Parts: sequence; C-alpha cells; structure tokens
Amino acid sequence: MDWVKKIEELKKQKNAIIMAHYYQDASIQDIADYVGDSLALAQWAAKTTADIIVMCGVHFMGETAKILSPDKKVLVPDTAAGCSLADSCPADEFAKFVKEHPDHTVISYVNTTAAVKAVTDVVVTSTNAKQIVESFPKEQKIIFGPDRNLGNYINSVTNREMLLWNGACHVHEQFSAEKIVELKKQYPDADVLVHPECKGAVAKLADKVASTAGLLKHAVKSQKKDFIVATESGILHEMRKQCPEKNFIPVPPEDGSCSCNECNYMRLNTLEKLYNTLKYRLQHSTTEVVCPHCGSVLYEGQRYCDRCGTKQK
Ligand code: 13P
Ligand code: SF4
Repeated sequence: MDWVKKIEELKKQKNAIIMAHYYQDASIQDIADYVGDSLALAQWAAKTTADIIVMCGVHFMGETAKILSPDKKVLVPDTAAGCSLADSCPADEFAKFVKEHPDHTVISYVNTTAAVKAVTDVVVTSTNAKQIVESFPKEQKIIFGPDRNLGNYINSVTNREMLLWNGACHVHEQFSAEKIVELKKQYPDADVLVHPECKGAVAKLADKVASTAGLLKHAVKSQKKDFIVATESGILHEMRKQCPEKNFIPVPPEDGSCSCNECNYMRLNTLEKLYNTLKYRLQHSTTEVVCPHCGSVLYEGQRYCDRCGTKQK
C-alpha cells in the first residue's frame, strides 16, 4: 500500500491537516503539513482553519491542541503515545502539592495532562519557560513542574529558587556527561547541543541549551561543522535536511545496548496508523468505552481520557 498517496487523498477529502513533532519518524515528518516543537505545534493548532488536526506526537500534544481549538476534531494516530514526564506528575498528587503551598504561583511545563494544567496558573514550553519565569517579580514564590531538570536549569539561568516537582523524562535522563566527553575527544571542535530535560551535568557541557526548535536554529546559524546532539534522535532528520553539509552526531544513551535516545512513545505513531486514523477513527465505534473517572466516551484502547486526563487501565 502506498501510505503517503492514500493519506494525501484522505487529508484533502476530510479537510484535515497533519502536524508532527521533531521526534516523529522521518517518514511522518516528511508527510506533515507542519513540523515543529511543542510551542509551534500549539500555536499552529490554535490558528488552523482545517476541520481535523492529526497530531503526530504524544497524547499531551493532542490534548493541548484540543484545549486551544475546542471546536476541532483532534486525533493522535496511536492514543497509547503517552509521555513518561507527564506520567511522573499524577494530577491528584500535584493538586495536593499546590494546595500545600497556597502563596505560590504554579508554572507547569506543557508536558502534563489537562488535569494538571487545570491547577496551573501558567503553562510554558522549553522555548518560552525562561522568559515567562522572568516576567514574574523576583520575590514571587513559584512552583515549577513536572520536570526537575528543566526546573533546575531555569533556576540556574534566572537565579531563582522555584519549588520543583520531582519528575523527569526517561529518554533525556539517559544521556550522560561521560558519553559527551568521549565524543568531544573525537570531535573537539563540535558544538554540544542539549535539550533542557537532560540532567544538569549534561547541560553544563552544552554550547547551547534549548528546545528542539532552538537547537535546530542554532545548528542552522552556526559556523561550526560538527554538532553533538543530546536529545531524542528524531530531530537529526530536520537538522540534516536543513544543513546537508554539516555533521550531526547523536549522543548514545548511557546503556549502549538500547536505542533509548528514541522516545518509545513518540515512535508508536506510524504511517499505517496515521492512515487508519484518517480512514476509520472518524466513524463512530460500536463498542462504547467510558472513562471510570469522569464518564467521557473513549476510543477502544485510548490510554488517557481527553477530558480529565485519567490514565486508563
Ligand atoms: P520541545 O518543546 O523542545 O519540542 O520538547 C518536547 C519534548 O517532549 C521534549 O522531550
Ligand atoms: Fe515525553 Fe520524554 Fe518522550 Fe518528550 S521524549 S515525549 S518528555 S517521554
């Protein structure tokens, strides 16, 4: 089956657009109307005039698109595409933590469920977190969640002491300073590009710490030839496309036997599932599955409830 051709046909028929995060497989990035970081995907989702948004990313990205475009149908090709960072912040525990600190402003990273966002004052992404934190007076007490690494990084660059939720991403936690030091011996002139979800010891070795879009922008602008990249390896596809003359070296995870610099959740989406989503998910299901927490109707196999964010069994 020629998935690309079939997807293009269905997309036109149904007035759908396809958005993809930089961590998607190259085949999905290549067919998407928009490829971007979390912030850009949210901004595009808020602006589109299409009837249907197919969000090729993880669940919270689809949920964010739905919050920003409530009248649109938002579909994620594989609804089991969760996020370990969002999972590290259960909504009931976070709400309790917030209640215990009533004098704090709550800033949450976009990698959270809608239920966590509901007890949040401001939602940020890695592109705008520093700028938004700095918009608050220095004396303002702030809770920042769920990523302790991003929180520590923002604390260090803004000279603040935000109270951090102790969450992390299983992909970015895998990168080690030792592997980067080894690579630097091989490529002494390389710039080290690091996503702020990495541990502090890794961020300290960086020439640039930024969101996926920020790292890409740096690579395009830089005069350097070699780049050591410490984030999910999907971003290398767009880096190589935009800079074919440059050399991008993915940092291998600490456990060299796995390909854990690929996000297993992001990579659940495939062209076949994208096709099936456009073809079949717009039809009504005959078996009704209901969220035990809020009663919303779910798709069979849906991992998180769209309304309350509850993880399904
Ligand atoms: P970006 O906003 O930098 O694209 O990051 C999203 C993400 O999930 C990183 O793990
Ligand atoms: Fe979540 Fe980490 Fe995957 Fe990003 S890379 S979607 S933070 S699990």
